[in-house]
Amino acid sequence: MQKIKIELTKNPKAKPTDETNLPFGTIFTDHMFVMNYDEGQGWHDPRVVPYAPIELEPSAMCLHYGQEVFEGLKAYRTKDGRILLFRPDQNMARLNVSNERLCIPAIDEEFCVEAIKTLVNIEKDWIPSLEGTSLYIRPFIFATDAHVGVHPAKHLLFIIICCPVGAYYPEGLNPVKIYVEEKYVRSVVGGMGYTKTGGNYAASLKSQDEAEKQNYTQVLWLDGVHRKYIEEVGTMNVFFVIGDEIITPALRGSILSGITRKSSIELLKSWGYKVSERPISIDEIVEADKNGQLKESFGTGTAAVISPIGQLKYGGNIMEINNGKIGEISQKLYDNLTGIQWGNLEDTMNWTVEVK
Ligand code: COI
Repeated sequence: MQKIKIELTKNPKAKPTDETNLPFGTIFTDHMFVMNYDEGQGWHDPRVVPYAPIELEPSAMCLHYGQEVFEGLKAYRTKDGRILLFRPDQNMARLNVSNERLCIPAIDEEFCVEAIKTLVNIEKDWIPSLEGTSLYIRPFIFATDAHVGVHPAKHLLFIIICCPVGAYYPEGLNPVKIYVEEKYVRSVVGGMGYTKTGGNYAASLKSQDEAEKQNYTQVLWLDGVHRKYIEEVGTMNVFFVIGDEIITPALRGSILSGITRKSSIELLKSWGYKVSERPISIDEIVEADKNGQLKESFGTGTAAVISPIGQLKYGGNIMEINNGKIGEISQKLYDNLTGIQWGNLEDTMNWTVEVK
């Protein structure tokens, strides 16, 4: 395994003192991990250096053609002072799935988990301890070739930055209002919807903006072909409880294979719930709402955690779910998942990795 060089900052920043006010993704820690890729040399020169602006050619290919991928995971401080990561191997495996689709050379997953641990260990005093807070970790890779031409890059940078965070949505665990997007689509099968690449999020901005103007938190995407089947919400996968069935859209290549999604399915199944990964149309949801069978809905994501959905707007149809309150299943899932992540419950699934 390559050795990670460490250069510590001589000017540590003041850490946030008010952990009740950690707006998501706005405060960055003192250090970052950096590694270069150059054709012929592979990934090389892994290092932890002070967090600082990076130098980039204006012609850097990532700025023009979007050859970029990223991940998101969290480090949690337990009540007894341990630091836990949640399934970091899954994030690094997914990063390689995104890499493959965007012609980015594969990373060594095991080494990159070690890189995350090294960085988090250096930044451990930045991990907040208030309930619901954590250190968000953002690994990302982008093309740096100075070249105005559409080709896979020969030179790339892999960087990991960290930020202490509270809840992603201002609503916290209160149900969010979601707007079903009918005009725009995010992805189609054969596209890049299953990857974590900036372009997927760029495609969502216009709808997101419209949704916010109408006082909705996020948009729910429908499939790009039939404009009928549920895909995912802006920053999370989505689940619906209809009767006694918990349904989430199947992974067909157009939506993200969320790690919180996967963990939720595993937990729900272990408790004996009937969970189906299958196509689900917006008409099925409207119908279930009409006949009183739509019991709950929630989103899952690293940033969003478990986020209950209290209202869905589809055209003129406004569906109030569970009277706009968090449902029993969403609450149970939130309590158990976060219980494991923050070390308050026994990790029977063997999902957490301690940083020492
Ligand atoms: C995550 O949940 O980690 C994400 O990457 C979503 C992002 C928009 C914060």
